Amino acid sequence: MPDQGMNELPVFETPRLFLRRRGMQDLDACLEMDRDPEVVRYIDGPWSDPALHRAFIKERITTSYPPGLGYWSVFDRARPDRFLGWILLIPRACTGPEVEIGWRFNRSSWGNGYATEAALPVLRHGFLGAGLDEIIASIDPDNVRSIRVAQKLGLLPAGRELERGRPSLRFALTRAQFLASPNVAAAGMPAGGTS
Ligand SMILES: CC(C)(COP(=O)(O)OP(=O)(O)OC[C@H]1O[C@@H](n2cnc3c(N)ncnc32)[C@H](O)[C@@H]1OP(=O)(O)O)[C@@H](O)C(=O)NCCC(=O)NCCS
Repeated sequence: MPDQGMNELPVFETPRLFLRRRGMQDLDACLEMDRDPEVVRYIDGPWSDPALHRAFIKERITTSYPPGLGYWSVFDRARPDRFLGWILLIPRACTGPEVEIGWRFNRSSWGNGYATEAALPVLRHGFLGAGLDEIIASIDPDNVRSIRVAQKLGLLPAGRELERGRPSLRFALTRAQFLASPNVAAAGMPAGGTS
């Protein structure tokens, strides 16, 4: 099925990974990933209802996000057919005005630094390509892996909040803070140009 109504997103390459806009061709891989209860342990969603789950992901794939925002599917450069997971950079709760960054990977790929490696160029793109002033993340206090990813990216603790009624830790980073952080140099460039 052709992708319709979606904005272009840059492709990113990192030492081990490549990222491109998530499309309908990734739907089944995303469904399979979410069927692992450990993967969605800290995330509310229609995971236990197959029809709702499929409709939810289709909607997230086909929604038109503001320019430069959306979901990137992540692949192993050494095995390009291997879907590892995704990184998102979208208006919070799809409405904004805040923009959030997020990550979800197949359990078999956890613990290799993939989420951090993949999120870095997306973070860089958010500030320098999409021109965002601030990027936030909202994470369940028990989701230690995700908190660690946020910390490694340089996101700063910004208190507690409710995320769809769920107590969460808020992390935030401004463009000025990003530009002053050591992650700038490590963030990589989009494949084939600037963003
Ligand atoms: C969160 C997630 C994306 C992390 O993926 P990943 O590829 O394993 O991430 P990384 O390897 O870059 O980093 C994981 C960090 O957590 C640490 N970690 C792993 N298991 C841990 C544990 N049980 N306790 C504490 N830290 C742990 C790792 O040591 C690593 O930190 P380090 O590099 O300082 O050693 C992955 O676990 C996931 O997809 N979870 C399910 C979806 C999810 O919860 N998304 C976030 C919603 S806010």
